[in-house]
Amino acid sequence: MFYPEELVEEVRQKNDIVDVVSGYVKLQKKGGSFWGLCPFHNEKSPSFSVSGDKQMYHCFGCGEGGNVFTFLMKYENFTFPEAVRALADRAGVTLPREEQSEETRRRANRRARLLEVNREAAKYFYYQLRSPHGENGLRYLKKRELSDETIHRFGLGYAGKSGASLVEYLREKGFEDELIKEAGLATFSEKRGLVSQFWNRVMFPIQDINHRVIGFGGRVMGDGEPKYLNSPETPVFDKRRNLYGLNYARTARVGNLILCEGYMDVIAMHQAGFTQAVASLGTAFTAEQAALLHRYTENVLLAYDSDGAGVKAALRGIGILREAGITGKVIDMRPYKDPDEFIKNLGKEAFQERIDHAENSFFFEIRILEGQFDQGDPEEKTRFHREIAKKLCEFTEDVERENYLQAVADKYHIGFENLRKLVTAYAAQTGLAKPVWRPRSGVQQRSDPEENAKKSQRLLITWITDEPQIYGKISRYVTAEDFTEELYRKVAGRLFEELDQGSFHPAGIISMFEDEEEQREAASLFNASLPRLENIKEREKALHDILYSVKKNSYEYYTAKLGTDVNALKQVIDGKKALEELAKTHISLDAG
Ligand code: GTP
Ligand code: MN
Repeated sequence: MFYPEELVEEVRQKNDIVDVVSGYVKLQKKGGSFWGLCPFHNEKSPSFSVSGDKQMYHCFGCGEGGNVFTFLMKYENFTFPEAVRALADRAGVTLPREEQSEETRRRANRRARLLEVNREAAKYFYYQLRSPHGENGLRYLKKRELSDETIHRFGLGYAGKSGASLVEYLREKGFEDELIKEAGLATFSEKRGLVSQFWNRVMFPIQDINHRVIGFGGRVMGDGEPKYLNSPETPVFDKRRNLYGLNYARTARVGNLILCEGYMDVIAMHQAGFTQAVASLGTAFTAEQAALLHRYTENVLLAYDSDGAGVKAALRGIGILREAGITGKVIDMRPYKDPDEFIKNLGKEAFQERIDHAENSFFFEIRILEGQFDQGDPEEKTRFHREIAKKLCEFTEDVERENYLQAVADKYHIGFENLRKLVTAYAAQTGLAKPVWRPRSGVQQRSDPEENAKKSQRLLITWITDEPQIYGKISRYVTAEDFTEELYRKVAGRLFEELDQGSFHPAGIISMFEDEEEQREAASLFNASLPRLENIKEREKALHDILYSVKKNSYEYYTAKLGTDVNALKQVIDGKKALEELAKTHISLDAG
């Protein structure tokens, strides 16, 4: 990090988070915290809370959270040093101009340099498009009916026919060959030296949610292979965790996001006023992207191609969204291939109608299923009904399943009781429709053991920071090593160290991490939803269970590492002892 830790901590402590956030969000005191409408996602009732005690904010709706630096980074799109400088200014703290060894800075600057070289390349492509060399590119984009404003807004550009000129330009700007190569902008060959990766293509800069250029997609003008050439993954370009267009879509605030397949689809939709459109980055839609979407909305509409491949991708997308707790809907694009073509031919009003009538993803799945069975053949029709029953079993909540059962029976003219019998029979066969407990958020409870282990670890950290007096009672059983996730281990290590010394600052611990995503994750450790139990006996049992679960997971984790990790043996021996002791120990929460 650029500034010394003590200084960063001083700046943080001199900026009360409630004061700072109040400058941006209208807050109201309720209980021990302040509440307001979350500035990071669209909502009508406040789920955004700011705690003066913890000096942290947390949104129970979208999961966003952190300390006063994180808040400014998110809200103002500041980098970490920028947030530190702004808050130092605000509190009248003077910051030194130059800090730390060259070595540390270089490491911290690597990502920043990659972003810089990308931005410079984007500028180059952008100006090329407007130069005489870029005529072909501009003509192509115009042919695709993009307005000047749209071309500007998405920073579209052109990579010329000479592969050397981008490299020349970047060298002149002071970027080393190594960096240009690492950014995926050029490749090296013995014969030709360093040459641009993109050649004779229109260029789509890919931006992260903070509008920083993290990579590129380049399209051939006309036919040619490959149609799109995308930057390779780099330390700043993670294709699984970013979405094209989300930098604009995140503030569209229309209550939904539209997921489509192509860059051109996103651009055409934005141009038509549907600024809530995003697309994955030339790779299949991922669970990480679904989680990202879930931070902004619970309503995702799929606008995938209407051809066979598009339908297949939509079916897959629905499953991924469902896992993330999102019930998707599907926009019918027929008779056109994709949103771009649809809007060109039928206009934006017609598209808005398709949005309004988007099909519930369950019915979409059933409709696709229907086409796979010959409805004139009683045998096939029966099989189709069995398949419906099978799908209905995937609803774990009774009310929801009943509602869908009713709706699908009506729609496909199947006797309600007959269909219900099929469902019951199928459920009995597989045990699928057993009522499953779901948390109130409606997010499907995952039986992922890794996620469960992390959850116990978060609960323990939150509990300790909320009631630091319990630390003394449990510290003999738990160490930072019990936190099996690296980031969790760092947080716990620091927290325990501070607690041992008698004072602790959770909001300061978050500043240990440079990356925004890491800060968010670190913040989540202090904001787990603790069980609300009034009764002391229940509370003692809950704490014991959480502690036991953390220890047990740690024991299993190190057992699996025996033989490959030199520390594992000690952890296993200590862990076993602690577990045995815990099993017969009562932890009292009585004061004193
Ligand atoms: P247009 O054909 O220009 O309208 O583009 P599109 O956005 O409609 O593209 P299409 O539906 O064919 O593909 C959807 C997305 O898949 C694109 O935006 C790219 O991200 C990706 N893609 C398409 N073709 C290729 C390819 O040849 N290579 C790679 N890596 N990705 C591709
Ligand atoms: Mn297209």
